[in-house]
Amino acid sequence: MRDPVAPTTTDSDADAGEAPPVVGVLPPLRAAMVDDASSISEIARALGLPSWRRAAVASWLASPTGFGVVATGGPRPGEGDAENLVGFVLGSIVLDEACLLLLAVLGPFQRQGVGAALLGAFEARARDLGATSAYLEVAVDNGPARSLYETKGYEREAIRRRYYADGRDALVLRHIFASTTIAR
Ligand SMILES: CC(C)(COP(=O)(O)OP(=O)(O)OC[C@H]1O[C@@H](n2cnc3c(N)ncnc32)[C@H](O)[C@@H]1OP(=O)(O)O)[C@@H](O)C(=O)NCCC(=O)NCCS
Repeated sequence: MRDPVAPTTTDSDADAGEAPPVVGVLPPLRAAMVDDASSISEIARALGLPSWRRAAVASWLASPTGFGVVATGGPRPGEGDAENLVGFVLGSIVLDEACLLLLAVLGPFQRQGVGAALLGAFEARARDLGATSAYLEVAVDNGPARSLYETKGYEREAIRRRYYADGRDALVLRHIFASTTIAR
């Protein structure tokens, strides 16, 4: 998880995390749009990551190198076609290297495969955009995230001492994508 860059505007005060758990069914995934920035920011805030403000998320998604994937939980009751997002992943790509900025799943939807599905979608999109590897930073004491990444082939590359504002260290993990080229 990285700290977002230069949030500049005030966010909505709406709360996130009210959706009931969905058990046994993976929510549909789709590409994130700039219009998802408020919902993404609300999820981040619900998970104790308040610095991911709407403007910062919108800025990532609008940038030429930024991309994201969201997990949707169906329409909000009484709100027409507005979707309930239950998780997201944000990434960026420069040349052949992708960076996973933040992956998050709302509490009631965790441990049901949503995080792994979002990570897979992030990698698929990164490969489509030309990436041959992806890296990320994760707090040394973030057991759930480390477990997910390590299970999916991310290996320790470096440690960034006191990387986070609270003084915690970050690990840099990298996953080199398997080549899909068929030898002749
Ligand atoms: C990390 C996070 C995205 C995982 O999402 P998730 O939907 O619960 O993940 P999944 O259900 O797909 O779990 C996949 C694997 O991750 C690991 N994992 C996930 N949560 C775990 C937990 N609480 N404890 C231990 N391992 C865990 C397990 O290996 C799990 O496989 P298993 O369920 O077969 O044992 C979620 O815990 C989260 O949003 N955390 C807060 C935000 C955060 O810290 N993001 C990472 C920073 S980049």
